[in-house]
Amino acid sequence: MPVSPLRLPKFLTARSPVETLATYRRLAEAEGDIVELDVRGTEFVDPFGMTLLGEGLLQLTDFEQSVRVIGLDQQTGAYLHRMDVFDHVELVDSPLPPGRRRDRRDALSELKRIDGEEEAEAVASSLAEALIGTRAQGRPPKQDSMHADEHEHQMGIIQYVLSELLSNALSHAQRHGFRSRARVWTAAQYYPSSDKVRLAVADTGCGLLATLRGHPLLEAETHFAAISAALQPRVSCNRNLGVRADTVNQGIGLTTVHRIIDRSSGDMLVVTGDAYQRQRGGGMLRDNAAWQGVATAVEMRREALRSLRVPELLPLGDAVPPELRFE
Ligand SMILES: Nc1ncnc2c1ncn2[C@@H]1O[C@H](COP(=O)(O)OP(=O)(O)OP(=O)(O)O)[C@@H](O)[C@H]1O
Ligand SMILES: [Mg+2]
Repeated sequence: MPVSPLRLPKFLTARSPVETLATYRRLAEAEGDIVELDVRGTEFVDPFGMTLLGEGLLQLTDFEQSVRVIGLDQQTGAYLHRMDVFDHVELVDSPLPPGRRRDRRDALSELKRIDGEEEAEAVASSLAEALIGTRAQGRPPKQDSMHADEHEHQMGIIQYVLSELLSNALSHAQRHGFRSRARVWTAAQYYPSSDKVRLAVADTGCGLLATLRGHPLLEAETHFAAISAALQPRVSCNRNLGVRADTVNQGIGLTTVHRIIDRSSGDMLVVTGDAYQRQRGGGMLRDNAAWQGVATAVEMRREALRSLRVPELLPLGDAVPPELRFE
C-alpha cells in the first residue's frame, strides 16, 4: 500500500519544539523501503531542527530504508542539502539542487556527527570560528570594526557553550548502558539580519532522568523535574563520587551555559524524554513524541557577548579546583 509523503512542517525549530519532535517521531517511525519526504512547505529549519532531522534520517538507514526528497532542488531542500542533512541517508529519485556548493564557511556550518572528545574540541572551536566569522580564508572578518581580541572573546564564549554541551553528551549521555550506542549531533549558524547565533547539540543517550535518579534535588521522577534539577548549580550525577580527580564533575556546566544565555538576550531549550524546558516556561511533548537522550538548543545575540565575562557567571559557591577557574 503506498504511504503518503511525510510533509515537513513550516518551521522545524527550537521555537516550535512540540511540532519539531512530533515530526522527528513520524520520520523515525515512517514505514516502507522508500520514505517520501516533502520539504516544499518548509520555510525555516534551524540547527535544532537539523540535528533532529539528521538523527531521524539516520534511523531510517538503520532499517535499510531510503528517502525520496520532494523539493530537494528547491529553496529549503537545497539549503538542507548544503548543510549535509541528507549525508547519512540513501537518497533515491531526488534531483539535486543545481550549482556548486558555495563556500560560506564564514557564516554557515554544517550538521555534524561527533564520535569522541578530541573531535568535540576541534568541532567546538571550528564552529565558534565559523559563527564569529574568522574562517573566511584570506578575507578580513565580516565585521571589520571588530577587533581581533573582541573576536577571540566572543569565540571563547561560544566555544565554552559548545564544549560544555558536547562534553555532557560524550560523557553523561553514555552512561547506563548507552556507551557506544549514543550518537551526538551538532549544528550551528549565525543569522546576520537578527545578529543571532543559534546552535544545537543532541545526543541519543540515557537522558537526564537516568543520570539524576536518586539525586536529593530531583523533586519528582519525571523528565521535566530532571531538567530543572540539571540546571541548578552544583547538581551533578558525578560530583564527589569519582575516586580520581579527573572523574569528578562540579555540576556547573549547564548552570553557566544557562546564565550566559540569560545575559545575552537569548533562549535555551532542553528536551529530554517527554518534556522540554525553555528559558521562559516549558511543557510536555505531544502525540507520543519523545527524545531518547538530551537535545539542547541555544540562541544568543552575538553583540551581547561583548560585555559578557564567563568567570563572573560561574557558580563559585564553594571550592573549585584551579583548573576550572578562568584567567
Ligand atoms: N547529555 C546528557 N545526558 C545525560 N545526563 C546529562 C546530560 N547532560 C547533563 N546531564 C546530567 O545533568 C547533570 C548536570 O550537568 P552539568 O553539565 O551542569 O554538570 P556536570 O557535567 O556534572 O559537571 P561539569 O559540567 O561542571 O563538569 C550531569 O551531572 C548529568 O547528571
Ligand atoms: Mg557538564
